[in-house]
Order: sequence, then C-alpha cells, then structure tokens
Amino acid sequence: MAILTYLTTTHFDFGAIQSLGAELARLGVKRALFVTDKGVRAAGLLERVQGVLPDGAGLPVFDDTPANPTEAATLLALARYRDEGCDGIVCLGGGSSMDLGKAVALLAVSGEPLAQYDPLKRGGKFVKGVAPLICIPTTAGTGSEVSVGTVIVMNDGRKLTIAEARLIPKVAICDPELTMGLPPLLTAATGMDAITHCIEAVLAPAINPPAEGVGLDGLYRGWRAIESAVANGATDRDARWQMMMASTEGAMAFVKGLGAVHSMSHAIGRRRDLNAHHGTLNAIILPTVLRFNAAHCAEKYARLRSAMGLAPDADLAKAVETMNAALGLPSGLAALGVTQDMIPDLVPYAIGDLAHYGNPVKASAEEYAQLYAQAL
Ligand SMILES: [Fe+2]
Repeated sequence: MAILTYLTTTHFDFGAIQSLGAELARLGVKRALFVTDKGVRAAGLLERVQGVLPDGAGLPVFDDTPANPTEAATLLALARYRDEGCDGIVCLGGGSSMDLGKAVALLAVSGEPLAQYDPLKRGGKFVKGVAPLICIPTTAGTGSEVSVGTVIVMNDGRKLTIAEARLIPKVAICDPELTMGLPPLLTAATGMDAITHCIEAVLAPAINPPAEGVGLDGLYRGWRAIESAVANGATDRDARWQMMMASTEGAMAFVKGLGAVHSMSHAIGRRRDLNAHHGTLNAIILPTVLRFNAAHCAEKYARLRSAMGLAPDADLAKAVETMNAALGLPSGLAALGVTQDMIPDLVPYAIGDLAHYGNPVKASAEEYAQLYAQAL
C-alpha cells in the first residue's frame, strides 16, 4: 500500500477503502454526508463503501448528483447536509459527485452564494473555510480527489470553475477495485480526460517543473494502460491501477493550469440540450488543439512524445486520433450533437473559461470558432 502525501493524503491501492473509518476519525468527522449518484448506488459501490464503517448504512446520502453538477443540485445537497446535522462529506463517484461535494463543503462553512467564489473575480477572499472532505473516486479520469477545482453549471447557464487551494480534499482514497466494473466506453472517456489533463498541464505556461514531472509520469502510465483498461477492464487489475494513478497524477499536475481543450469542452458541457460527457469531449477536441499549439511547443512536444513512447518525429495529434479510434470514441463533435450553428454560442464561454488562460497560445474568438469547426 503506497501512501502518497502531496497536498492531499492519498491512500492508493486495491482495498484502500478500508482506511475510510480511520480517516474520518482522524478528521474528527462524526456524521458524514455521502455525496454520490444513482448509478454508483445501483452498482453496489455505495453499499460496499458504507459497509467498511460500523454504522455506515445509517449515514445520510445525497444521490441526486446530475451528470454535470449544477448549482441547484448543490443547494439541495447543502440543505440535506444542514438538516442532517453533518460535520463532513464523503464524495463517492466520478468527477460530478466529487465536484458537487466539494462545492457543498465550501458553502457549508463559507456561505452562499456560490457565484461569489469565481476566481476570475478574486473570489478567494470570501473563502473562510471548507468542511472536512474525503473523496473516493469510482472512475479513473477527473482526479478531482486531489485537485483544487470544482466545476459547477450555474443557474445562469455558465460553467463556473472555482479553483482554490482550500478545496483540495484532505484525504483521497483511490481504490482501483471500485473501477473494475466500469463499462468500456466510460473507461475510455474518463481515461482520455486523465490523459488530456496530463498533456494540458505540461503545456500550460506557468513555471512548475515538479507538476510537469508528475504530468509526464501520468501520461506515461495512462497512455500504456488505457487500451487494456478498455478492452479487458474486468480482469486487468494492473491496467485499472495504472489508469487510476494517471488520473490522480493528472490532477496533481493541473495545479499548473489546463488549456483550450478544457475551455472548449466546458463551453459545450454546460449545454443541457447536449448533456455531453466531459471526457469524450476532451478526447475529440485534443487533436485539434494539439495542431493549433504545435508551432509554439516544440520542446514540450518532444517530452510528450517521449513519455508516450512515440518516435521523435511522430505526429502527436494523429497519435491521439488513432488512440481515440482504437478505444471506440467518436472522431468529431457532430457525433455528440454539436452543430455549426452552435459555434457562436460556444466561443464566448470558451474565452470566459478559466482554462483559456492556461493554453500556451491565447486563442482569439475567430480562432476558437475555427477550432470548433475543425473538431466537428
Ligand atoms: Fe477534465
């Protein structure tokens, strides 16, 4: 069992969920609210995790997390937290449940409204504290269990990213056993999200060599494991372990920033008429943005190729397209219902997204429109 202490204390291995009781006690949490979704509950994972606690089955649960977490759902969960007299949160699920739980933990201590915490409006000054938070991922992709961020679709239709050091969960419990039953397409989509995090973090211009090292290691693991995790997910335990590590490392790395893949996918992900999966969007958009950035990132592209085990002259964008096809992911945004006439709606949201600022080349509105058209 490896215990990695970065900013979050991470319990990482098969069987890691056994550490939940001791960690709740260490944080002084007596009555945790479990934040999850109906799919995780139906898969039996909530029962399995609550089962490691003596009184687990009696703890309150919020399982109405939407596919893309919303401000409205966050407020419902917050009401549950208060009504039940909770003093901490256990998030169990993919990025949606973890992000929603993180937003509840923030509001529970620092108060409403959620919009005041927008980092682009210096919202950090309103953060007084965050309720104790333990995150247990059931997918390998988002890495939200160790990240500074939470992404919530606000009532006004934008997708707000709150990035704040105090939102980093105190404890992450990464147990690859919980991902063994993840279906192939979800494994592919979430896995490509992790790989995108590693790549965009390395390319982001902020100076943070340790984060780059972590991102390159995550890319090394994820790129080699993802095909088997998708094809043999129920049996290849090592591939599941490697994908979970790539996911955690991707989020450790993106403290440096993300880029235009994420600004573009967030702009689409906020649209409730599409309800597109975040990881699938990133996988599709990644080759287009890699081509857009290429002329400015020669040295870093060489390091990415090396981590991925590609030839020094390999075309990175092409390699991602080939991987997407091998994983059964769509090759264009049109397959997710995105149309040419939606582009004028998407562009301003991409420019207003926090990830826009981490791209190595600042894309203009015209360039974003072209990138969307190319990715269709
Ligand atoms: Fe992501």
